[in-house]
Amino acid sequence: MKRVFTNKILTAIDVGTTKICVLIGHKLEEGQVEILGIGKVPSEGLRKGVVVDIAKAARSIKKAVNEAQMMADVVVESATVGISGAHIQSRNAYGAVPLEHGQVRQEDINAVIAAAKAIPLAEGQKVLHVLPQYFSLDGQERLSDPLGMHGIRLEVQVHIITGSFASVQDLVKCCQMAEVKVQDVVLEQLASAQAVLNDDERELGVAMLDIGGGTADLAIYQKGSIRHTMVVPIAGNHFTNDLAIGLRTTVSDAERIKREYGLACSSLLQQDKEIEVEMVQGGKTRMVHQSQLVSILEPRAQELLSLVHEEILHRNLEHLLVSGLVITGGGALLDGLQEVAQDIFQIPVRIGRPAHIHDVSSMLQSPIYATGYGLLLHATHQQHSFNFDDQDKRGMSGLLIRMKSWVSDFF
Ligand SMILES: Nc1ncnc2c1ncn2[C@@H]1O[C@H](COP(=O)(O)OP(=O)(O)OP(=O)(O)O)[C@@H](O)[C@H]1O
Ligand SMILES: [Mg+2]
Repeated sequence: MKRVFTNKILTAIDVGTTKICVLIGHKLEEGQVEILGIGKVPSEGLRKGVVVDIAKAARSIKKAVNEAQMMADVVVESATVGISGAHIQSRNAYGAVPLEHGQVRQEDINAVIAAAKAIPLAEGQKVLHVLPQYFSLDGQERLSDPLGMHGIRLEVQVHIITGSFASVQDLVKCCQMAEVKVQDVVLEQLASAQAVLNDDERELGVAMLDIGGGTADLAIYQKGSIRHTMVVPIAGNHFTNDLAIGLRTTVSDAERIKREYGLACSSLLQQDKEIEVEMVQGGKTRMVHQSQLVSILEPRAQELLSLVHEEILHRNLEHLLVSGLVITGGGALLDGLQEVAQDIFQIPVRIGRPAHIHDVSSMLQSPIYATGYGLLLHATHQQHSFNFDDQDKRGMSGLLIRMKSWVSDFF
């Protein structure tokens, strides 16, 4: 017998550089979803988190959607979609307004956020998210919700995330070609953070790094709100390519040996195993030592993590990482990466897996699903569903308004 769902069916699409992951869920209560369907296919037409071939990317999305639909036995109409890539930029900004009525009304909150986001943008960039960090009222700092309070001047600190308008359009186009309307576009690391961080970490201060195939996406939280975001164009695929070049093997075999024998930290090497690898020419094989893998993977891991660490030092943010660093994404599965990170950052490091999943197979507990699951959680927080039929009429401006409204979830 077919189940009847009282709450809305929600869909998330993580358009990753290596895989497209579609999750279909059903909202249980605030912050909890029951997973009904999973679709995961290798992605085509993406490079470093960005669509480079719309037709190929659309085909992969369609395949993953079909897989998830079959499992869930529902038809997907709309979805929350993740976005990443080197085009993403972020900065903190400040706004202030006088309070005409001596009391903070919703209009004043809207006005002060509008003032904060009135910043000059680089050519082709559009605001994706405006995330309030805290409000101040007549000098009284760090208010999370000033609504109804009395005063004469309201100020706000926000984190503004911008992205290339063309890249957003391409992503939306791919989904439309796959017959899915885009309900919301969310920066991938905000989604991953929602899936793998707990409230205490976000309150005390934490950094989360999602190491995917094409990009490593950083998000830093403190006092419950976002402080900094960054996208680094180095991730798992670079480790694989380094191995392929260094060992003169095929990319697919380099990927296989990385997953099976890869190690990023030489001090963890126990027996120096011999591994058979496929050579590029002639389909012949030869033997390599695991220590050769380590000598290639360790410097790449150090490069990636040092780059992130230097950015944190450069911006004087290290004091925020009280709860340490959480690494997620498929790249986090590389053995020894946690130890290298601990060595460079000198703080506790853990691997982040989607939390609160008690209703599905342990498959979803992999860091690979952090973004997809986070996107689904994000969709459960949406108060009002977007009117998809209006999307074409309103065009992209309608979508961008919707994207900015992510902000409303944080009040
Ligand atoms: N067991 C493993 N050991 C080492 N690396 C792994 C393992 N499993 C997956 N990976 C790596 O994880 C990466 C893919 O991670 P993920 O699925 O999070 O990326 P993505 O979301 O497709 O990419 P992006 O987020 O950059 O767009 C690949 O580079 C893959 O080699
Ligand atoms: Mg990813």
